[in-house]
Amino acid sequence: GGITTLDSGYKNTGSCESEITFLDGEKGILRYRGYSIEELADKADFLEVAFLLIFGELPTKEQSDKFHADIKAQSIVDEDVKKILDAFPKSAHPMGVIASLTSALTAFNPSSVNVNSEEDMYKSVVKILGKFPVLVAWTLRKKEGLPLDYGDKNLGYVENILKMMFRQPNEEYVQNKVLVDALDKLLILHADHEQNCSTSTVRIVGSSHAGLFASLSAGISALWGPLHGGANQAVLEMLEAIKLDGGDTKKYMAKAKDKTDPFRLMGFGHRVYKNFDPRAKIIKKAADEVLGDLGVVDPILDIAKGLENEALHDDYFVKRKLYPNVDFYSGIIYRAMGIPTDMFTVMFALGRLPGWIAQWREMRLRKEPIGRPRQLYIGKTHRSFLPIDQR
Ligand code: CMC
Repeated sequence: GGITTLDSGYKNTGSCESEITFLDGEKGILRYRGYSIEELADKADFLEVAFLLIFGELPTKEQSDKFHADIKAQSIVDEDVKKILDAFPKSAHPMGVIASLTSALTAFNPSSVNVNSEEDMYKSVVKILGKFPVLVAWTLRKKEGLPLDYGDKNLGYVENILKMMFRQPNEEYVQNKVLVDALDKLLILHADHEQNCSTSTVRIVGSSHAGLFASLSAGISALWGPLHGGANQAVLEMLEAIKLDGGDTKKYMAKAKDKTDPFRLMGFGHRVYKNFDPRAKIIKKAADEVLGDLGVVDPILDIAKGLENEALHDDYFVKRKLYPNVDFYSGIIYRAMGIPTDMFTVMFALGRLPGWIAQWREMRLRKEPIGRPRQLYIGKTHRSFLPIDQR
């Protein structure tokens, strides 16, 4: 029969049982597999967190070494993928490029399409963790007109990502510990966030037993939107616009509150957090530290702080419990690291990859049924067809 209840935007609908991420939006608590985000951001590295999310426990030294070695062994991308990359114009948005390249991996790794065992799953997992950073780096280098390259097997996972992205031709790449630590922290903070739009997309696409890479490509497309991961790019563009406009934050606050104006204060508000986003707190502190350590003075940081301060004391924002979210300060750090604005959401995807993988794996291991929501039909009742000359 038909359904009687409707929940647009799934505000009150649980779509699955999950053991991965705990989130209490009223109290501002976020934990991966029971560990608080504050502690993980401070003490863990990104690959350990990836292992934790995907397999449920922090790895031992042996497990960690094996995991990293298996990933490194899969970090070569078929040379023909470069032809696909080459066909994109330089002006293409990097999110469209990375979603397409991730989807293209299904063609170059046909065995990854059918997953019938945990062993098959593991192979897909290490493949994508090895190849995705290469695709991210290639996407950036194509945009900048730099030769495509591979990383260095002797480096840590995050160090290798930085080298692949930033190494200049004929130059030795020197690692900067401040950048490595900052990127590690940012990736950990983005690594999972339970059943958000992109993760639900990955689970629902995967629930039809489409392969991991196809499911991830769909998740990347979902993340692109400015209401979701695309907010980090939108925040920076908003802050730039305010700066160009003479730094008049009050004017933009008024626009955000005006219901006839589509403008929203980007980086503010969250479906689940009705209190501070715990990730935003950590990122705000990191932004101060990273800019300080790199000796970067960015007037945009002052505009962001001014805007935040005004919003936290403004009736409109207070009443609706709108606080800064993860995307409010992350772009300021990415910018200080030399990452172009339209690559910010790609960095989010890089961080979210372990979460998407963990959620997909959990969904398959729990043998969840295909996702298939219902609807309330509000269209026409039955009527008869009229030939075209009688309409
Ligand atoms: N600026 C101005 N008003 C806002 C904002 C904002 N950023 N966010 C929510 N509101 C208002 C909204 O107009 C509504 O007001 P009213 O009750 O008068 O109609 C009320 O607050 C509730 O908002 P909603 O749109 O019903 O809430 P939602 O849960 O559907 O949307 C959201 C959540 C994150 C999409 C929304 O807050 C938003 O658009 N924020 C800006 C975009 C953004 O920063 N997104 C990143 C989210 S966190 C990371 C991620 O998901 O990737």
